[in-house]
Amino acid sequence: MSNKPIGVFDSGVGGLTVLKRLAEELPNENYLYFGDTARVPYGEKTREHLFDIVREILDWYKSKDAKAVIMACNTSSAVVLDEIKDDYNFPIFGLIQPTAEYVAYSNAAKIGVISTTATAKSQAYSKTINKLNPEIEVFETACPGLVEIVESNKIETYEAKKLVIKYIMPLLEKKVDKIILGCTHYPYLREIINTLTNDNEMLIDPAEHLALKVAEDLILLNLINDDSEGKREYYVSSNAPMFAEVGRHFYEDCKEVKEISLAEAMKI
Ligand code: DGL
Repeated sequence: MSNKPIGVFDSGVGGLTVLKRLAEELPNENYLYFGDTARVPYGEKTREHLFDIVREILDWYKSKDAKAVIMACNTSSAVVLDEIKDDYNFPIFGLIQPTAEYVAYSNAAKIGVISTTATAKSQAYSKTINKLNPEIEVFETACPGLVEIVESNKIETYEAKKLVIKYIMPLLEKKVDKIILGCTHYPYLREIINTLTNDNEMLIDPAEHLALKVAEDLILLNLINDDSEGKREYYVSSNAPMFAEVGRHFYEDCKEVKEISLAEAMKI
């Protein structure tokens, strides 16, 4: 059982920020990454459309005999995970709960969250944090446009800086103690954000807390792979060269990327 792959998916390159952290924590695992570049951005899609997309991806992982699947995507973690997680016979992990637990028991009083429109609309971070600690004030900001900037490799442009300023400054004016990077694409923009916060400790990357949770649970479930050197395979639904180029900014390992259509892959 234990050398079966772990599925990790996102709408594009964002989830590589999670995969990198997972591979540091669990280096012997075999990972099967899927970036749904044909349908990015997820954050502007309806709930119904997101359910259809996520089911298709989970069915593909089922056909690949995955032992666990990581939603390396806040949008699907916020909108879809709770309602879908018991429909599969492998554990499915999301980004919201582990970070909410970390924040709820920290000494922060005010927390900012930057995320996609769908994540902000779901209020998943506020609800999950406040369920554990109702005292914390949570400010959720939708940041349309940032995902497209990362996916199209415009990270170091004036356009990127302008948008980051627009979304981050109001949170700093509210004097938040920490800002959660509530979309896995945003760690690519970390340097720009840091120039505004003047504090390298201010940003919380949910990938950190998720990776620890996955490691803990896989040990408990007896699903750890101890005896092989981890293999990582990369699949996307379109434009593999662009994915590899942008992905390598963050994660050197991402070189060989294959394009697939999930619907066709499952017919075989
Ligand atoms: N990176 C994903 C997230 O964490 C999805 C972004 C998008 O495609 O809009 O929300």
